[in-house]
Amino acid sequence: MANLVSLLGCFGILFAMCYVASASSLAVSSALFIFGDSTVDPGNNNHMETIPENRADYKPYGQNGFFEGPTGRFSDGRVIVDFIAEYAKLPIIPPFRQPSAKYTKGVNFASGGAGILSETNQGLVTDLKTQLKNFEDVQKSLTENLGDEQAKKLISEAVYFFSIGSNDYMGGYLGNPKMQQDYNPEQYVDVVIGNLTKAIQSLYEKGGRKFGFLSLSPLGCLPALRILNPKASQEERRCFEGASELALAHNNALKAVLTSLEYLLKGFKYCNSNFYNWLQDRINNPSKYGFKEGVNACCGTGPYRGIYTCGGKKEVTDYELCDNAEDYVWWDSFHPTERIHEHFAKALWNGPPLSVGPYNLKDLFFNNEMKLTIADVVDNPHSNHFQF
Ligand SMILES: *[C@@H]1O[C@H](CO)[C@@H](O)[C@H](O)[C@H]1NC(C)=O
Repeated sequence: MANLVSLLGCFGILFAMCYVASASSLAVSSALFIFGDSTVDPGNNNHMETIPENRADYKPYGQNGFFEGPTGRFSDGRVIVDFIAEYAKLPIIPPFRQPSAKYTKGVNFASGGAGILSETNQGLVTDLKTQLKNFEDVQKSLTENLGDEQAKKLISEAVYFFSIGSNDYMGGYLGNPKMQQDYNPEQYVDVVIGNLTKAIQSLYEKGGRKFGFLSLSPLGCLPALRILNPKASQEERRCFEGASELALAHNNALKAVLTSLEYLLKGFKYCNSNFYNWLQDRINNPSKYGFKEGVNACCGTGPYRGIYTCGGKKEVTDYELCDNAEDYVWWDSFHPTERIHEHFAKALWNGPPLSVGPYNLKDLFFNNEMKLTIADVVDNPHSNHFQF
């Protein structure tokens, strides 16, 4: 009720004062907790034993100079969550495994190569289940340091961002004959989505309320997957449809799950994206969006630079590097450039409802004080004249 009164007050005589007051309370941002794979790993894998394919702490990763040198990000510079943190007026969110990491603005648990299923790249990555366990440790430490009440507030107002799933379909399924024997594609998507749903529910039970999701890309159009396309000759530049179909099925299934969770879980709010077509369009028509190259990677070797050799630390040490990464959609054989990450982040932040919703990230970060929904207000007989 207090909220309703103050909201109504905002439209009264005291409009100007009230506006100032609410603007300042809206400016307190939420913390950001990140779960995922190489699309959002800020360097967690630097601190664990794994293969060079799952690390990016060597040149030319990070070459664009935003950071002093390679950080472990699989990009020429920043990744999507760095931009989101900036828009949310947060510092860069530290990797969980960074020894000096402070947790009060959030933590990034992501690990290059990780999947939703524990079987995906097992032993070489921090899988989603373990990332959630690590979150429990952070929650404990927050409670110890801030006290129960403050920690609960931080947890409930925080945004939980997920960018994970591609590895389950690439290495975890298409690269794993045993999995293909055990599950047909439809069943496999159900298992992956079932485990992701469990992860969301477990964070909700721990007090999380606001969730953000980066959808899967048209996986078959990654330079590394184009060269695996069993059907296309090199001239054809065709995407590997089987891989893209899995990503599409995953995106559709996640959309359905989130719609039902919104009904089942009180106070559950989310921002989902549908960037499959969005990215496909940039791949096919790069010049429409200010890019010059949508098919070939900037860094790598072989056709489309789809052989994953960027940096020369892997089995094959030859690699080529383009002059201007910002002209490219793909940085290396698997990962987009900083510029694509920035475009993703901008769209999720306040993007068009067609590809992002039901909330955008800006709503999730800055609307802590707005407990009323639009539905509450239009139900109120005194509020019919309000224009939103
Ligand atoms: C989670 O994944 C495992 C395989 O790692 C599978 O056996 C299990 O059924 C999945 N759980 C759900 C809820 O789908």
